[in-house]
Parts: sequence; C-alpha cells; structure tokens
Amino acid sequence: MARLAQIVIFGASGDLTARKLVPALLRNFEEDNFRGPIQVIGVSRTEKTDAAWREELSSWIPESQKAVWERFKPLLSYKSADSADPRQIEALEGHLDSLALNAGEEPHHVGRLFYLALAPGLFAPTVEALSKQGLVACEPDAAEGWRRVVVEKPFGTDLGTAQTLNHLLYRHLREEQIFRIDHYLGKETVQNILSLRFQNAIFEPLWNRKHVESVEISVCETVAMEGKRGAYYDKAGASRDMMQNHVLQVLALIAMEPPSSMRPDAVRNEKVKVLESLRSFTPAEVHEHVVRAQYAKSDKRERDYRDEYGVAEDSRTETYLAMRALIDNWRWSGVPFLLRTGKALHKRFTEVVLRFRTPPLDLLNGPLPGDVCPLRPNDLRILVQPDEGVRLSFLVKRPGAGMVMQHSVLGFDYADLGTGPTPDAYQRLLLDAINGNPTLFIRGDEVEAAWRFVDAIRAGWEANDEPVHAYPAGSKGPAIANELFHGCEGIWSEGP
Ligand SMILES: NC(=O)c1ccc[n+]([C@@H]2O[C@H](COP(=O)([O-])OP(=O)(O)OC[C@H]3O[C@@H](n4cnc5c(N)ncnc54)[C@H](OP(=O)(O)O)[C@@H]3O)[C@@H](O)[C@H]2O)c1
Repeated sequence: MARLAQIVIFGASGDLTARKLVPALLRNFEEDNFRGPIQVIGVSRTEKTDAAWREELSSWIPESQKAVWERFKPLLSYKSADSADPRQIEALEGHLDSLALNAGEEPHHVGRLFYLALAPGLFAPTVEALSKQGLVACEPDAAEGWRRVVVEKPFGTDLGTAQTLNHLLYRHLREEQIFRIDHYLGKETVQNILSLRFQNAIFEPLWNRKHVESVEISVCETVAMEGKRGAYYDKAGASRDMMQNHVLQVLALIAMEPPSSMRPDAVRNEKVKVLESLRSFTPAEVHEHVVRAQYAKSDKRERDYRDEYGVAEDSRTETYLAMRALIDNWRWSGVPFLLRTGKALHKRFTEVVLRFRTPPLDLLNGPLPGDVCPLRPNDLRILVQPDEGVRLSFLVKRPGAGMVMQHSVLGFDYADLGTGPTPDAYQRLLLDAINGNPTLFIRGDEVEAAWRFVDAIRAGWEANDEPVHAYPAGSKGPAIANELFHGCEGIWSEGP
C-alpha cells in the first residue's frame, strides 16, 4: 500500500475544481483506483470553512453518487491562502503537516500533488512561493515524499511566454515534477489512437505517405461565446485556444513513429519529433495554406462575434481556423494534414479521417461519365467525441446483375463494449499525476515546438494583413476553406 498522498488544489472555489477535479477524484475513489490513502486540500483566498466548501461542491455531485460522496467528503478540507504569498504558504504547510500527522504519517514521507487550477498569471508566482517554503523539494524519482505540480492550460500565449514560464518553473522544479495538462490526452478515444496503431498489425503498414493521401483532423464546436467567455477568447482565438494544444496533440499521436517502449519519455520523444517536423510556414505559405474566419449572425445566432460580450468591436480574432499543414519527415512528406477547429459550427464533433489513395486501376467500372475524380473508396475514421468509435469504409458489389459498387462501412462503437460511459479525461489524468506517470502530459520542449508552429502562422497573418473571412453561425464554416483540399482529394467531413 502506498503512503498517504495529499492533493492540494489551488483555485478551490473555481469552476474547474467544482465541475471537473473533485468529480474526477470522487470517481477514482468510488472505483477504488487510489493505491493508498488520500487527502484533498482546497486552497483559495476566500475565507470559508471545510463544511462550506464541501457544501458548495456537493451541488455538482449527481444523485447517483450521493452515497459515495458522503464517504468521500471527510477527506476534503479547505484552507484560505493567497497562493503567491510565501507567508500564507507557510501557514498552508503547517496545515498540511498537521493533516499528515493526524493520519499517522510523517510529513516528509507523504506525497504531495499541487494542482494549479488558477489563472495562468499565478502559475509561476505560486511555484515560487511553494519553493521558497521548501514545499516542492524532493529527491529525483522519490518513491515517497514526492512533490509534483500540475499546470493547467494555457501554457503561455506564444513561444516567448511559454519559454519564460518553462524557465521560471525549471528554477524550482525538475521536468519530471511538472505535469502540464491537456485534457484531450486523457480522453479514452485519444489514447485509443495509440492502441489502434501499435497493438494491431493491419494498420501500421498502411500508415504512411505511400498509402495515405491525406489526413483530416477536426475539432468542431457548436458553442460560441456563452456567458463572459468572449473576454478571454478574444485574446486567444482558435489558434491559441484549440490548435496549439488539442489539435496538435491529436496530430502528434496520429503521425508519431512507434516508440521504443511505453515509457513516458519514449512516447514524448516521438511526439516532439513530429511537432518539430511540422513545416513552419513562411508568410507566403500562410496565405496559401491557412484560412481564418469569424462567425457572423444568422438564423442560429443573433449576434456577430464582434458584438459578443467582452469582444472588441474591431476584433480580428479568429473563431475558425483551417489549414493544410505539412510534416516534413520520411513517413509523411507530401501528405497534407488538413486541420480544422472552430466555434459556432453546425455540429459538435472531434474526428480524425485517414483517406487512403485510390487503387492503381479501376478495373471494374472505369470513370463515371462526367466524373473527373477517381473514386477513393477507403477511409479510416477515428471518432473522438461525442460519438466514440472507429469506422473503415470500403466498396462492395451490390448484389445482382452487373458490377455495381456501393460504399460500405465496418464500424466499432465504444458503447457496444458494454463497459458504461467512458471515464472523464480528468479522472485518468489526476490518477496518472498522483501515480507519477507523465506519459499523457506535455513536456516542456513539446509545448514550445507547438507554439513555434502556431506563432509562424500568426506572424504570417500580420505580415500579409490576411483577411478574416466570415461564416454564418451554425454553418460548416467559410466556403473558402474547402479550397484547402485540392480538387479531387475530398471535402471536409460533416461529422458523424
Ligand atoms: N473551467 C474550465 O473548464 C477550464 C478548462 C480548461 C482549463 N482551465 C484552466 O484552469 C484554471 C482555472 O480556471 P477556472 O475556470 O476554474 O477559474 P475560476 O473559476 O476563475 O477560478 C479561479 C480560482 O482561483 C482562486 N484564486 C484567484 N487568485 C488566487 C490566489 N492568489 N491564491 C489562491 N487562489 C486564488 C479563486 O478564488 P478566490 O477568489 O477565493 O481566491 C478561484 O477559486 C485556468 O488556468 C483555466 O485556464 C479551466
């Protein structure tokens, strides 16, 4: 049995803690996933009692979990402190020590996970305050008395700020202690990309430029600027909010080489190589390969993006971004990766489509009259959300006289496994952080490589004064984005 682990959540009265972190911990408790005893300590500036914090959180717990919540609740306590103030962190240390001693453990044997569910401006000051107090010092690879820090997104707003943040963190922490989170990697279906590719012999031989004509990755959302989100989003846009992290993480898993093992750094080394092989666009290439756009009012939404709360009247922030990215490496040279993400679109879905090349000859039909595009019968779809599964399409002969072809699909749905709903991403990621497994977290060089790619695009927009196209809210995005597919290659997926 492992020693006591203390999970310290900074930002305890925030949205993320209530909606995601505490429910994820509760689910792990319910499933008996923790290797040893735990204590959860919430920290934010507002004064409140343990009971008041628990009461606040309980409104987020569904009726079906109320019984387990009653057993879990006593593990939760609250301490008010400003995370960036070393003196208040000193008081927090006293609180943590006494909780450990009450549980019969020496504080230096206890593992501590500090979760920064805070505004990004507080990441570095909080780690500095913790370090000043000696709260993050531990031996490398410590099996007990370990100290780890989970850093929320966004990690920087460009390469320079990400480098600065990395630099500040490295003054106090080793890379192995830093868990930069991208919740996309906690999704079962995203992890399934690795098992699909590397636990099956049939896909890997086809997984390269010889057989794959293009790869499409879509992260489409129907939500727009609900509530006060516009104030944050207008400074970020689709490039920073979704492309730099979620979309590029999925791309890295799709395009990486087989790792030498599933050791965290073996996997992350391969992901970094992909991100570093992404062609960094010149301004001319940005013009040719990238489309940005903003949603406009339509019968589905009564306001233009620029009229949303918190958005500048003359905003040029993109709510939609699509591109034809290129990976200049041996496996993928010349294969376009068509990437797309946006808000206020027609459907919410995340999907990867590998489109395979045409057969060398069409022996049966020949081209249809007037059809200039040869048939591309095969694609492999990985459905990430909300539908979760895999589809492989191919042609079959329609029964009857003649050789008439029709599309058919071989499918797998997670729902059919009968294992119940797939766990929330935070459930898996929190457990991995407590167990010290960083495979599904982003390494420092990885986050920088992703920013380098996105920064070049943003620089190209500036240099060219690229237009911000418009698309009706609730539509499939701007028509001009279809041109990123060259002619017969296909069109953007409409989603499941
Ligand atoms: N919410 C989400 O779904 C979501 C998704 C992805 C990423 N994130 C990231 O997660 C982080 C938190 O987001 P959130 O939505 O939960 O924010 P939030 O609702 O604004 O909560 C922020 C929390 O930080 C506390 N706080 C502020 N200053 C503090 C200080 N100096 N010391 C200690 N506590 C302090 C606030 O409470 P007091 O005022 O009482 O101190 C509050 O509890 C952000 O980095 C965000 O980008 C959130």
